[in-house]
Amino acid sequence: MAILVTGAAGFIGSNLVRHLLERWPDRRIVGYDLLTYAGHLSNLADVMDHPRHTFVRGDVADRESVAKVFAEHDIDGVMHLAAESHVDRSIVDPMAFVRTNVVGTTVLLQEAARAWEGREGVRFHHVSTDEVFGALGAEGRFDEHTAYGPNSPYSASKAASDHFVRAWHETYGLPVVVTNCTNNYGPYQFPEKLIPVVVTRALAGERVPVYGRGENVRDWLYVGDHCDALALVFEEGATGETYCIGGDAEATNLDLVGMVLDAVDGARGAAVGTSRELIEFVTDRPGHDFRYAMDIAKIRAELGWEPSVGLAEGLARTVDWYLSHREWMEEVQGDQHREFTDSWYGKR
Ligand code: NAD
Ligand code: DAU
Repeated sequence: MAILVTGAAGFIGSNLVRHLLERWPDRRIVGYDLLTYAGHLSNLADVMDHPRHTFVRGDVADRESVAKVFAEHDIDGVMHLAAESHVDRSIVDPMAFVRTNVVGTTVLLQEAARAWEGREGVRFHHVSTDEVFGALGAEGRFDEHTAYGPNSPYSASKAASDHFVRAWHETYGLPVVVTNCTNNYGPYQFPEKLIPVVVTRALAGERVPVYGRGENVRDWLYVGDHCDALALVFEEGATGETYCIGGDAEATNLDLVGMVLDAVDGARGAAVGTSRELIEFVTDRPGHDFRYAMDIAKIRAELGWEPSVGLAEGLARTVDWYLSHREWMEEVQGDQHREFTDSWYGKR
C-alpha cells in the first residue's frame, strides 16, 4: 500500500512521515510538497534515504503534477496536510490561501476520484483545524456537531476545503475521513507560530510579542499525539465521518508564553523568570478568535485515542529540541519569512 502525504515537508507532515514509516512497516510513503517558505527538506533529512519513502516536489493546485504522482506511485491512500497554515499571513495575502487550501484540495479530490474509479480499499484523509468552528466564549467546547463559523481567511479557506471533501464523498462516493484538530506544537514547527516565535526571540534577547492582553485561549496538543491520532483515524475511522482531536490542555496565551519562557530559562541555566521581562503586549490580530477548546469524547470512545503528553512535559521536550537545533532555526528562516515578519511585527 502507498500513502501520499501532502505537506510532507512542513511541521506536522514531516513528523507524520517519520511516524508512519515506523508504524506501518509494510507501507510506502510518498511525500508531496511544494517546498514553500514553510516547507523544508531538512525537516525530513533523517528519512530522505529511507527505502520506503519517496519525496516528490509539487503543487497540490497543479492538476498535471498531482495526476502524475497518482499514476507513477500507485497511490492507495491520501493524507492531505498541504496548506497555507499561518493565520497572520492569511490576513495579509488571503488569495494564497484560497489557491492552495481551496483550489489545491479540490484538485487533489478530483485526481484521487479519477485515479480510484472502481477501486476498493482506498481512502482520502483530510487534515483540518478546529478554527473552522469559529470562536468560543469562556464556556463550552467544539465537537463534531458544532456549526461552521470561520472568522479568518485561513479558517474560511480550511472550512471551504472541508466542505469540498464532504461534497466529494456525498456526490462522487469518494471514501473520505476528516479530522479537526487544535493547536499543535513540537519539533520542526516553523518559527512563525507562537511557541517557536517565543523560543527564537527569547534566545536572541528580542521582545516577545503577545497580541492584545494575552487573554485568548488555545488548546495545545503535542505533535506526536496528533500523528498517532491521524494514523488511527486513517486506519480505523468510519468512512464519511469527522473526528475532533485535541489536547485537553487549555491555556491563555500569556500563561503559555510564561511557561515557554521559564522552560527556556531553565534549559539555559538562567534564573527562571528572567526572560519574562521580554514580554510586550502589542496590537491585537484583527478578528482574533477568543478561545478554542475541543470535546474529544468521540475519538476517545470510538477509537480509544487520547493525548499522552501533558503540556509541561511537551513544552520541556519542545524547548530542548529548539535549543539543540539552532542551525535548523537559522536555515529555515528565509528572506520571504523575514520580510513578512519585519512588516507584520513592525506595525504592532
Ligand atoms: P506548515 O505550514 O508547517 O506546513 C504546510 C506544508 O504545506 C509546507 O511544507 C508547505 O511547503 C506545503 N505547501 C504549501 N502550499 C503547498 C502547495 N500549493 N502544494 C504543496 N505543498 C504545499 O503547516 P502545519 O502546521 O504542518 O499544518 C499542516 C496541516 O495541518 C494544515 O492543513 C493545517 O491546516 C492543519 N492543522 C494544523 C494545526 C497546527 O496547529 N499547526 C492544527 C490543526 C490542523
Ligand atoms: O487551532 C489550530 C490552528 O492553530 C491551526 O489550524 C493553524 O494552522 C495554526 O497556525 C494555529 O493557529 P493559531 O492562530 O492559534 O496559532 P498561532 O501560533 O499563530 O497563535 C497562537 C495564539 O498566540 C493566537 O491566539 C495568537 C497568539 N500570538 C501569536 C503570535 C504568532 C501572539 O500573541 N503573538 C504572536 O507573535
